[in-house]
Amino acid sequence: MRISVIGCGYLGAVHATCMAELGHEVVGIDVDENKVAELAAARAPFFEPGLEALLKKVQTTGRLTFTTDMSAAKGSSVHFICVGTPQKKGENGADMSYVDAATRTLLPYLSADDIVVGKSTVPVGTAARLHEVVQSAEPSAELLWNPEFLREGHAVSDTLQPDRLVYGVLSGAEDHPAVHLLDQVYAAPLETGTPRLVMDLPTAELVKTAANSFLATKISFINAMAELCDAAGADVTLLADAIGMDSRIGRQFLNAGIGFGGGCLPKDIRAFMARAGELGADQALAFLREVDSINMRRRVRVVELTRELCGGSLLGQRITVLGAAFKPESDDVRDSPALSIAAQLQLQGAVVTVTDPEALANAARRFPDLNYVNSTDSALQRADAVLLLTEWQDYRDLDPYVTAALVSTPRILDGRNVLNSTKWRTAGWKYRGLGRP
Ligand code: UDX
Repeated sequence: MRISVIGCGYLGAVHATCMAELGHEVVGIDVDENKVAELAAARAPFFEPGLEALLKKVQTTGRLTFTTDMSAAKGSSVHFICVGTPQKKGENGADMSYVDAATRTLLPYLSADDIVVGKSTVPVGTAARLHEVVQSAEPSAELLWNPEFLREGHAVSDTLQPDRLVYGVLSGAEDHPAVHLLDQVYAAPLETGTPRLVMDLPTAELVKTAANSFLATKISFINAMAELCDAAGADVTLLADAIGMDSRIGRQFLNAGIGFGGGCLPKDIRAFMARAGELGADQALAFLREVDSINMRRRVRVVELTRELCGGSLLGQRITVLGAAFKPESDDVRDSPALSIAAQLQLQGAVVTVTDPEALANAARRFPDLNYVNSTDSALQRADAVLLLTEWQDYRDLDPYVTAALVSTPRILDGRNVLNSTKWRTAGWKYRGLGRP
């Protein structure tokens, strides 16, 4: 099939590449000339395992092209909208200007019976509104909502082998021709048994925000338990292992630590609350405010614990922060708790050095005043305290004896509860976890 993918950021670049891998002829369209040039040269504009190799592979087939020219969408029968919906400045709601602009710019290039498929995370009600916009330009075209659930760091496999496909369609009816067209796009994952759920537009939009809210709630739940464990002298890691063995609860997303960040969970729960308010259902999501504040409290707690670890004052203390990305296997620093903690420590008088295997360039753009060092060993030199804030495998594998020889004072705060505390203490370290005795 001929497919256009509008917006080549995280979601769109991965989606375009994966659709070409599935055998389709794909044009990726973005307003950012640099991004288009990078992608056209088969270079991933961000770090995502497996993406660049796949880009190179599919570009040799000639099935994948990139352009800034929207008219290239003409002739495609399926148009995916993959642009971002960031948090509005100074407000909780989502900024819809990119989705609206992408849809409107596409209208002149729609042909009879085309489908426009929204993938961006949007406030419920957006799809119905855009459906009218699309049909006013091309009455035989249909707009569907097909939310994306990919995780950074696993984006390629999440797109090629999704755990479910959700199609929102105005009628909610499975026998709609647009549903058959989208089935052809996803023929490969459907053949391997990927479940596909067809529903009305608002339900499809809500599936995404509800899923992200649940994940955020799960993380904040275990972080609230970590606060309690700290107060009671209990161990949140063992607690998570034990409650996670109940299959109704499950162990995933029960890792207590410095909390969630990134380009999705924080802004999605805020946009969801804002939308619920507009719909007069704000009480239903009042608990998400608590989820958000538990999460933000983690960052304050780590700063306090670091002060304690350093003997009561941060002034002049040399702190090495391991990890700047919001999670491992990513160079994304959007709302990264690690980076926000590093910046806070520096503001409070510490001398902070940050290292990360992939995210330093992005981190330096966001917080230019912090000191960034590429090599882990150099970053650790003469540290008064070490903070492990993003659990890259390299940091999990650090040897406590070798590391002790590099630092000035062997003190470590394990912000992700991933180190073996006994091993580190035996090697002479003062070890602090979060919610661990
Ligand atoms: C998330 C959703 O998982 C994905 O389905 C959606 O499409 C986009 O948002 P992503 O932002 O890539 O994906 O990251 P995710 O793996 O969900 O992690 C989010 C944050 O939660 C990270 O900062 C991570 O470190 C943190 N986290 C995750 C925890 O603190 N504890 C956990 O147990 C799990």
